[in-house]
Amino acid sequence: MLLRGGTVTTAAGSSRADVRVDGEQVVEVGELTPRPGEDVVDATGCLVLPGGIESHCHLDLECGLGLVTADDFATGTRAALAGGTTTVIDFATQFHGETLARGLERWHEKAAGKAVTDYAFHLAMTQWQPSFAAELADMVEAGVTSFKLYLAYRHSMMVEDDEVLAALQASAALGTTIGFHCENGRVIDALVQAELADRHTGAYYHPRTRPAELEREALVRLGVIADLADANHYIVHLSAAQSAREVRTARARGSRLVAETCPQYLVLDESAYGVPGATGDAELAARTAVMSPPLRPAADQDTLWAALADGTIQFVGTDHCSFTLEQKAAADAFNTVPNGAPGIELRLALLYTYGVAAGRLTPARFAAVTSENAARYFGLYPRKGTIAPGSDADLVVYDPAPRWTVRHEDLHDGTDHTPYAGLAIQGKVRDVFLRGAHVVRAGEPVADLPRGQFLRCGLPDPTIS
Ligand code: URP
Ligand code: ZN
Ligand code: ZN
Repeated sequence: MLLRGGTVTTAAGSSRADVRVDGEQVVEVGELTPRPGEDVVDATGCLVLPGGIESHCHLDLECGLGLVTADDFATGTRAALAGGTTTVIDFATQFHGETLARGLERWHEKAAGKAVTDYAFHLAMTQWQPSFAAELADMVEAGVTSFKLYLAYRHSMMVEDDEVLAALQASAALGTTIGFHCENGRVIDALVQAELADRHTGAYYHPRTRPAELEREALVRLGVIADLADANHYIVHLSAAQSAREVRTARARGSRLVAETCPQYLVLDESAYGVPGATGDAELAARTAVMSPPLRPAADQDTLWAALADGTIQFVGTDHCSFTLEQKAAADAFNTVPNGAPGIELRLALLYTYGVAAGRLTPARFAAVTSENAARYFGLYPRKGTIAPGSDADLVVYDPAPRWTVRHEDLHDGTDHTPYAGLAIQGKVRDVFLRGAHVVRAGEPVADLPRGQFLRCGLPDPTIS
């Protein structure tokens, strides 16, 4: 197959070039002449991007009390594909009392035969056990080299500082990395109890119990411990301007730190939580924005975009963790609303529109933060994350011309709403190839999607910027 006439855009730059694919791989990039019998796909006027890499999603996640996310690996990865993401790195989760191997095994069962993107796993630990130090090495053998710990969610998943140190020392010995959910769980708990005592139960109070200072505090505390252990660590779903400034300082100091942010923190803001005392549809709408960390003031966004552009933040994942409106409505107070929002399909379109088209990101930086940097950090490069001879033919044809407005009915996920409804979008994912297979045509996933493959991750490249 020859993908002809597009502007090939990778982290290294943008240029007019054709891409020849043989089987599952790219074999040539340059000015190429079609061969007799070769399929030719015209990409004139379009960007040709490396398949997107989703660094942060929760598919088929059980959240207790019988609650499971609306998207499993079938619906979630189909939506990802429609949005130009060809690899997802989901959070396999170890639940209390389990070994890491058991958590990983269950996630393999969830994904196998259902995923239609390629996929890899981080291993999220809901506690830290001394025995895990040895188990981390087994995970590396099994192709998992990134882990997650929570400094929030007290009484369920939060770990203590001594456990953070032990985990980071074990990880440093292997050269793996740990992503941290940075919010101070103890203080959040106190603020939540205070609001509930005042009968403040609406979603309006969610961000008031999780101020940005608590993300910054957790991030700085983590940084001190990680520096002591000289350990790779990364901040998942960084949400606030003051946190981005701390990351910049820590990286300048030589910390082995990278950071991920999410589209919701770049384009949505805390006005989504409405007003105190909301009821009915207004309260339900506010609940769709209940995620942690919460949305921040719009004034934070310029700093986050600048941090993404200047290398302080290296990649963008969506933290896709979808629930239906019914699931969101069932809770009796803001602190029991299931946390999370959908977004896996819109990552490239949002980053292109509000990043590239708005002049905040160069096209090359767009490719870096949506694909190459995650491939490098999670040990998938150069098979994934670039367009070069020998790399997998995961290719996205992004047409910059169409203008449209987000409506959930046009998306492909398994939920029933999107927090991005009503946003104007510039450009559209037109075609997607996964290891050479033409899986999205004219913006729609084809009927018989081939199954995705499990990807074993190598060790992180902490030098990404
Ligand atoms: O609200 C969120 N982010 N839900 C998913 C779990 C997490 O903390 O990433
Ligand atoms: Zn988290
Ligand atoms: Zn998450």
